[in-house]
Amino acid sequence: MKVLMVCLGNICRSPLAEGVMRHLAAEKGLEVQVDSCGTADYHVGDTPDPRAIKVAANHGIDISQHLGRQFSAADFKQFDRIFAMDTQNYKDIIAMAPTREDIDKVQLMMSAVYPKEKINVPDPYYRDFDAFEEVYQMLHTACTLFLTKVPVNEG
Ligand code: 4NP
Repeated sequence: MKVLMVCLGNICRSPLAEGVMRHLAAEKGLEVQVDSCGTADYHVGDTPDPRAIKVAANHGIDISQHLGRQFSAADFKQFDRIFAMDTQNYKDIIAMAPTREDIDKVQLMMSAVYPKEKINVPDPYYRDFDAFEEVYQMLHTACTLFLTKVPVNEG
């Protein structure tokens, strides 16, 4: 199973989501491959926001080595599941989908918890550190629930 986490800048939410998913999958012995990227190119080549690095480190996860990259249509070929952090990310991703099957790979991150509602992982970039902890908690809940549904033999 290959999972891609996508937000706008790839310096706050999606690198955190990548770190959380990889950490939880390793804990459960599931060989889920995880990457992250952004729909925008503002932070290509940048390490995550220091607040995202800090909140991850507070929970025993190291995301400091990630380098920002931009989402591209080629990602549809590489990944089985693409998680959008918010509805704008979702729209931007599916606008680039080559096929209907590719569109079906995309879902909101929080749909793992609230399948019938459109709940965004709020962008913490212009907020304070508490917003990063809030994002971490949302991601931890969503990734935990998603991993309970990953068949072991798909690791
Ligand atoms: P992210 O947060 O999408 O969670 O990485 C943002 C990071 C940077 C910007 C916006 C959102 N920005 O405008 O530079």
